[in-house]
Amino acid sequence: MSANEPLDGLWYLAALSAEVKPGAMLRRILFGDPIVLGRTKASVVFALRDVCPHRAAPLSAGRLCEIAGETAVECPYHAWAFRASDGKCAAVPALHSEEARDPSTISTKRFALHEANGLIWIHHGDGAPETAPPDIGLSEGFRPKSATIVDAAGPFDEAVIGLVDPAHTPTVHKQWWWREGAARRDKVKSYEPTPLGFKMLAHRPSTNTRIYKFIGGAPTTEIEFRLPALRLEHIRNDRRRILGLTAMTPAEPQMTRIAHVIFWDFAVLDLIRPVAQSMADDFLAQDGAILSLQNENLKRGEHRPLYFGEADEPAKWYLRLKRAWQERRESGFKNPLAPASLRWRT
Ligand code: FES
Ligand SMILES: [Fe+2]
Repeated sequence: MSANEPLDGLWYLAALSAEVKPGAMLRRILFGDPIVLGRTKASVVFALRDVCPHRAAPLSAGRLCEIAGETAVECPYHAWAFRASDGKCAAVPALHSEEARDPSTISTKRFALHEANGLIWIHHGDGAPETAPPDIGLSEGFRPKSATIVDAAGPFDEAVIGLVDPAHTPTVHKQWWWREGAARRDKVKSYEPTPLGFKMLAHRPSTNTRIYKFIGGAPTTEIEFRLPALRLEHIRNDRRRILGLTAMTPAEPQMTRIAHVIFWDFAVLDLIRPVAQSMADDFLAQDGAILSLQNENLKRGEHRPLYFGEADEPAKWYLRLKRAWQERRESGFKNPLAPASLRWRT
């Protein structure tokens, strides 16, 4: 497995529920592979490899149909139809009446999906999922209030490291509403391992970050990272909560799809929803831009990264977690991290 090969046996964000309409299909390149995401009229989502086994036409350019009461995808070229539920071929219209051939011996790969809270997760790997789909800790009623998606050029690991790296925030994310101009201070944070990653324990957000003042009521923040590439920032006060979710999915080779989705149940935030959306857009565009700049060099040759100081520890943790996951077949997955406290200046 090469260094930037996406980890298998895990779940990645495939799409927002709102992107996949009932009775419609969407073509998306994930893990370098064409995939058709669709939704039946009964609102069940499905994902199949978007390559017809006959002569490689994209199934997503065809149409949804019903065969024996089941939804199938009909190829646009010769109308072979593949069942949404398992990817098996259910019809080859050109077979003549005496050709005793069984189309169901042909199939296109079907991917396991999980839909919850307005998000569609896809399992990457062959065989049955090894892990449960991500539980983001929200009750069923929470739906995305803002969503930003950026396709950024660059190696997947660099993108993920940007997600856990605390030291880039004051340089890359220079918004007036964030902390522009505030002096740097030492910051200490406590971390604990979690089943698939680590979390920065709940703490009062830094007083030099203006946005938190808006929320009121002594909020706390807890930031969690989970393999393969999921960051969850939970902000809570005594009654209400906000979840900022960032998920990265390998798309075309050397392209990463970065999604940032915000959930909240603060009615007051509904009033500034467009503002929240544009803040999130700015944030993500900044992360995407620095990744693309790095990529201008990385794509031209090997670079051996340096990890220097405690602020670079989370990057090393990610790489250790990843290695432990890749080696799980020998001895099962054991999180190699221990509780720690990190100090850096920000
Ligand atoms: S290419 Fe799909 S049916 Fe022929
Ligand atoms: Fe960032």
